[in-house]
Amino acid sequence: MKKIWIIHSSDYGNSETVANKIADGLKDTYEVRVEHLKNLTPEDFAKADLYGLIVAVRIFQFRSDKTIRNFLTGLNEVMGKPIPKFAYFSTHALKWKKFFIRGMKKTVSKLGCVEEVCTDILEIRLQGAKGPARDGADEKIEKFVSTLKEFMS
Ligand SMILES: Cc1cc2nc3c(=O)[nH]c(=O)nc-3n(C[C@H](O)[C@H](O)[C@H](O)COP(=O)(O)O)c2cc1C
Repeated sequence: MKKIWIIHSSDYGNSETVANKIADGLKDTYEVRVEHLKNLTPEDFAKADLYGLIVAVRIFQFRSDKTIRNFLTGLNEVMGKPIPKFAYFSTHALKWKKFFIRGMKKTVSKLGCVEEVCTDILEIRLQGAKGPARDGADEKIEKFVSTLKEFMS
């Protein structure tokens, strides 16, 4: 089975929950691992022979989380061979604004270590900073899983 990792840097558990739900949707076709960024080093990625990488991006102070962006930039330096498929999703508390994700888009555009980037981005709005997700999240996740399955095929 091809390997997909879903990584997050969740504090309150919301992006981890979304990651787990995406994993549930993909695990019939792929070997999926959900992991907190703090448990991984760039070298783990270099060794893993990944087919896909899906990243949770939290929004802080109107910007996409710098920790995860810096980590991805660091991957460029260690990956011997690129990861064929890359996608990301976001959790946020305020009404969605396109500029929230601008920094992440910039980071991704410079990633030499991924081949193809999914153009669809899932945005999950929370009921405040600590969540939980607002109504309708499960339907959005389900739709994103279908998109991912097509993108990854
Ligand atoms: C200090 C702080 C600043 C935040 N700024 C924003 C923001 O500008 N826009 C927004 O939509 N959500 C904002 N949030 C909400 C976070 O996006 C939310 O807490 C995060 O996605 C939760 O993810 P987690 O449960 O996986 O930790 C902020 C949260 C914190 C704690």
